Amino acid sequence: MPGPTTAAISLFSRSLFRASVSCSARWFRRRLSTTTTATTTMSDIPKTLPGQTPLKDHDPDLFEMIQHEKERQRSGLELIASENFTSRAVNDCLGSCLTNKYSEGLPGARYYGGQQFIDKIENLCRDRALQAFRLSPEQWGVNVQPYSGSPANLAVYTALLNPHDRIMGLDLPSGGHLTHGYYSYNARDGTTKKISATSVFFESLPYCVSAETGLIDYVELQKRVDVFKPKLIICGGSAYPRDWDYKRFREIADTCGAYLMCDMAHISGLVAAQEANDPFEYCDVVTSTTHKSLRGPRAGIIFFKKELEAKINFAVFPMLQGGPHEHQIAGVATQLKEVMTPEFKQYIQQVKKNTRALADALTGMGHVLATGGSDNHLILWDLRPHGITGSKMEKVCDKAEITLNKNAILGDRSALAPGAVRIGTPALTTRGFKEEHFRQVAEFLNRALKIAIDVQNEHGKPLKTFIPALEGNAEIEQLHKDVAAFARQFPLPGGDY
Ligand SMILES: Cc1ncc(COP(=O)(O)O)c(C=O)c1O
Repeated sequence: MPGPTTAAISLFSRSLFRASVSCSARWFRRRLSTTTTATTTMSDIPKTLPGQTPLKDHDPDLFEMIQHEKERQRSGLELIASENFTSRAVNDCLGSCLTNKYSEGLPGARYYGGQQFIDKIENLCRDRALQAFRLSPEQWGVNVQPYSGSPANLAVYTALLNPHDRIMGLDLPSGGHLTHGYYSYNARDGTTKKISATSVFFESLPYCVSAETGLIDYVELQKRVDVFKPKLIICGGSAYPRDWDYKRFREIADTCGAYLMCDMAHISGLVAAQEANDPFEYCDVVTSTTHKSLRGPRAGIIFFKKELEAKINFAVFPMLQGGPHEHQIAGVATQLKEVMTPEFKQYIQQVKKNTRALADALTGMGHVLATGGSDNHLILWDLRPHGITGSKMEKVCDKAEITLNKNAILGDRSALAPGAVRIGTPALTTRGFKEEHFRQVAEFLNRALKIAIDVQNEHGKPLKTFIPALEGNAEIEQLHKDVAAFARQFPLPGGDY
C-alpha cells in the first residue's frame, strides 16, 4: 500500500510546527498580559505544552486499575480500623500544584526560594493543629512535616534518645504498634528477630494487657519500669478497644524520669472531638497519623512541649527527611478546619455509637470480644472459641468484599496465624452508616464466620487446603452479592477521583 510521500510528511509536520508555535506565542502573550492572580483555564493551555493529557488518555491501563479500586471501595464494606474516606477538599489539595514545590526547612527558614505561599499554607496547618487540639502556642509546638505515622515516631526517638537507650511500648500482640519496639521470638529455632527499626536502634521491653481482662496491666507495667528504667514510655496502640489512663502513665513515667509519648494515631479524631481522654494533659510528646479517625490525607504529625521543639524539628529535617510534602500538609490543614466543626464531633459520636452497636450485636450472637466491648472506634473479635484463625476469617471476608484484618490477641503463639480480627467503624460511618446498618454488618460477619467454620470442617485446617476450597463456594458468592447490594446504597465522599 502506498504511504504518504516524504515531502507530504515534511509539509504536514512543518505546518503543524508553525501552528503550534503561533498558538504557543499567543498563549504566552496572553499570560504576560494577565495579572499574577489570574488563573489559567484548561482551554487556554496549548496542546503542545507537556503534561496536559488526562490520566484516562495518557495511561488507560492505570486509569482502569484506579476505577476498579474505586468500585471496590464503593461495593465493599471497609472495616479496617485505620482507614477512612477523604473529602473532596482533601483530594483537591492532594492533586494540586503544591506537589511541585521543594520547601526544605520550616516556614520563614527555608533552603530554597519561592516560599511565600507555601509558608502561609504550612503555618495555617500548624495553627489549626494546635487549635483543633486546644493547645496553647506558648506551651506546645507542632511539626506537620512527617511523611506518615512511622516516620513521625522515629523522629521523636531520634530527637529524644541515644542509640541503645531503653524504651517501653505496648506489646504488638497486646494491641501495640510495630514502631513501639516490636521484636519476635521463633520457638522453632529459638531466635529473636528485630521486626521494627525501633528495636534495632533502641533496647525495648514491652508491657502487656492482662490475660484475664484484656486491659492494660498497670501494676505489671510499674514492676517492669522499676527494673528496666526506660528513658521513654509510649502509650497508644493499634488494636486496643479501650481508653488510656494517661495520668497513671505519667505517674509511672515519673518514677524513673522517663519521657511520656502518646501515639494517638488511631484515636486522634476522638481526642480532637473530646470523645476520648486527653493525652496532652500528661504527655511530653504526642504523635499521630492524620488519615485514620481524623479523616485527613496520609501523613504524620508531632506535637511537643515547647522545650523539645528544637530537637524534634531538627530530627524531622535534616536528620530523617528531606523536602516536606506540602500537598499533604495542605490536605491536613483543610481537614483540621473540618475537625473543628460540630459536624465532625457528631461524626465521631456516631463512630462510637456504631462500634457499640456492632459489639452488642456480635456479643448478642454469643461471640467473644477482647475486653468484652469497646470505648472507641474498634473491636477485637476473639475467634479462638470457634477454632478459627483470624487469617481464615480475613480470607473468607475478602472474598465477600468485607475488608478487615487478622490481628494478634494476647496468648497467640503465632503472629502468622493470629486468633482475632480487628474491626473498625470510622470508614463506613463516613459513608453514612448508622447503628441499624452496623447490626446488618454483624449479620454479614456472622455468615462469613459460619462459612469459614464449615469450610475448615470439610477441608481441614491447613491454609493450603482451606484457601482453594473458597473458590466457587456458593455461600460466599451469595454473601458477596448481598454485601455489594447493601454497600452500594451508601455514597462515597471525595468527588470523582
Ligand atoms: C498506633 C500507630 N502508630 C503508627 C502507625 C504508622 O502509621 P503509618 O502507616 O502512617 O506509617 C500506625 C499505623 O497503623 C498505628 O496504628
